[in-house]
Amino acid sequence: MYDPAGLMLLARHTELDDQTIGIISRTGVPGVYIEDEFSRDAEIRDVISSEVKKSALQIVHDVFIRAEQGETVDEERIASIVSQITRQVIEDRDVICNLVNVRAYDGYTYFHSVNVAVLAGVLGAKLGLSEAELNDLITAGFLHDVGKVFIDIDIINAPRRLTAEEREVIKAHPGMGYEFLRDNYSFDQDVLLAVYEHHEWFNGEGYPRGIKGDQITLPARILKVADVYDAMTGKRCYHDPYLPSDVLEYIMGRDGMEFDPDVVAVMSRELCLYPVGCEVELSDGRRALVIENHKGAIQRPKVKIYDSGEEIDLASDRKSWNLTIVKLFL
Ligand SMILES: [Fe+2]
Repeated sequence: MYDPAGLMLLARHTELDDQTIGIISRTGVPGVYIEDEFSRDAEIRDVISSEVKKSALQIVHDVFIRAEQGETVDEERIASIVSQITRQVIEDRDVICNLVNVRAYDGYTYFHSVNVAVLAGVLGAKLGLSEAELNDLITAGFLHDVGKVFIDIDIINAPRRLTAEEREVIKAHPGMGYEFLRDNYSFDQDVLLAVYEHHEWFNGEGYPRGIKGDQITLPARILKVADVYDAMTGKRCYHDPYLPSDVLEYIMGRDGMEFDPDVVAVMSRELCLYPVGCEVELSDGRRALVIENHKGAIQRPKVKIYDSGEEIDLASDRKSWNLTIVKLFL
């Protein structure tokens, strides 16, 4: 287990006692997966390995910290980790996406940037983007909020509703990020535009330019969906996390308005609402562990009942067709 700066907090096979549990909870981690006899069938697989995630967090951390000083990191370092993620999302193009939900909240911006990059990559691969296009999209995911380092930290982290004036200040971050990257790095124009346009709305009501439809580049339209999804399912200082199903509902409700319908269609088909390894409550009151997801039936995964150990496939077991999932415990 690592902190956002890449420092090890707990080593593999560490036995948990009160002290180590204290360390984990102080970092803001909301929960951990427990591997035991009961959960043996639940194969938890994140889109990217923990090593790749660790290097990605480190890179994003370095880019943001140096940007504050007007400095840069070696672009090769960024390109190498980006291409590893691209290869992974291309390889897993047909696999249902299990974005692991347990994550730390400290160093929010870095985790958020990596999550957005990976989710955007997954969506982009399923939309048929080429390897080069995915590289640009994932790079833009890492960097989309870099302009925020030039904005007053007290406004960024304000645990309250912002004033109209403060909201205007925040709205400068896509442009500031765009200019910083243009002047200090040599990324493709597609990367720069995706950063610049990630807050544009499909109907033209976004910022900074208020452009709409396919005036907005496709990578920016993908980033927009990934950004909102991750921001809402993650915990921020001003709200508790929303459930993936509620966020998907929100995103589908704003299809064609805030979001590109093509991107929303892929997300609503492919993203799993009840990640493997999570605990759910069924409509008959029983609690169960999610052990497998099905493509095209994201509401009805296979589960294992806690008390009896019985496995129920909500998608195909006839006797369970009246059962639904009513709650997800994160
Ligand atoms: Fe942003």
